[in-house]
Amino acid sequence: MKFVLALIGLVLACSVDISVSKDAALETVSKHGQLSVKGVDIVDENGEKVQLKGMSLFWDVWMPQYYNKESIDGIHDLCHSNVVRAAMSVVTEEDGGYIETPEDTLERLFAVIDAAIEDDIYVIVDWHDHQADLHLNYSLEFFDIVSKKYTGVPNIIYETFNEPTGQSWNDVLKPYHEAVIQVIRANDPDNIIVLGTPTWSQSVDQAAANPITGQKNIMYTLHFYAGTHKQWLRDTATNALNNGIPIFVTEYGTVNADASDPIDEAESRLWWNWLDEHNISYANWAISDKIEGASALVPNATSAEVCQEEFLTDSGKLVVAQNKA
Ligand SMILES: *[C@@H]1O[C@H](CO)[C@@H](O)[C@H](O)[C@H]1NC(C)=O
Ligand SMILES: *[C@@H]1O[C@H](CO)[C@@H](O)[C@H](O)[C@H]1NC(C)=O
Ligand SMILES: *[C@@H]1O[C@H](CO)[C@@H](O)[C@H](O)[C@H]1NC(C)=O
Repeated sequence: MKFVLALIGLVLACSVDISVSKDAALETVSKHGQLSVKGVDIVDENGEKVQLKGMSLFWDVWMPQYYNKESIDGIHDLCHSNVVRAAMSVVTEEDGGYIETPEDTLERLFAVIDAAIEDDIYVIVDWHDHQADLHLNYSLEFFDIVSKKYTGVPNIIYETFNEPTGQSWNDVLKPYHEAVIQVIRANDPDNIIVLGTPTWSQSVDQAAANPITGQKNIMYTLHFYAGTHKQWLRDTATNALNNGIPIFVTEYGTVNADASDPIDEAESRLWWNWLDEHNISYANWAISDKIEGASALVPNATSAEVCQEEFLTDSGKLVVAQNKA
């Protein structure tokens, strides 16, 4: 009898294992619905833990050719993603961004969001700035427009500040995020909001020491580049998790922090193992055809060619294999 029960248990365990897909492309919005944050985890509308895996687009002013439906189709179907990140430039030295040409930014962003909705995947609305604290009035305007337009749409995830640099968490970043959260929450009570942390979104320990309180569905950004950031950063992040800080890796690379070669495959695997073990969501930098190690696409790949095998770089191939693993 015991043996039979054990056997039934084994069969059940196996069938459960088999039915749980690990291919991110199959873990869609229609399957998981409205996400929320419970403890340090993202859970779906049934309270089950969910892990999002996917791709970040490159700065929109520099790679506008990938801000369209064709490209998002490729990211979902062929890069096996259930999340895409729209990296909306705010200011760039030569090529502007939201502050100069807000209509262009919004047009590209809406194209990506609408494609993500159609393709049934989640989309991160990223204010891609290093000095967002100096442009607060523009962030407030931007997040008000977007959260008003997409109120109640479960696909959306907000990222308020890509990568702060040396700004103080306590004096600058926390008040900045609180102001942006207030604007988003006036329109959108539920969708997840991810907050940038000091030191190019590595110092999650500083956020852990003084987290945002009185808000729900808040997470904190961790970025890593495997060639540069090693066990010490995983240790920092593990401590932050242990202190109850939910982490979302909205950007990571298999290469050096300056996006250059070589690919550090061994360290990337250590990171992926750590992320998967903790059910942490991640998006790879980047859907880009720039000639640099971090790019997932070969030079001159068109939007129709996004994520097709023959147009993936070595980094792109590793990342896609991971997204469907
Ligand atoms: C933001 O503030 C600057 C400086 O006061 C002003 O020139 C600009 O028009 C403001 N923009 C928005 C969107 O509020
Ligand atoms: C990750 O999620 C799986 C599936 O829900 C669960 O079995 C596992 O315990 C989770 N891991 C952690 C560290 O929470
Ligand atoms: C990409 O296109 C540019 C402009 O047409 C061309 O000069 C360049 O040789 C192409 N690069 C590759 C690697 O095909």
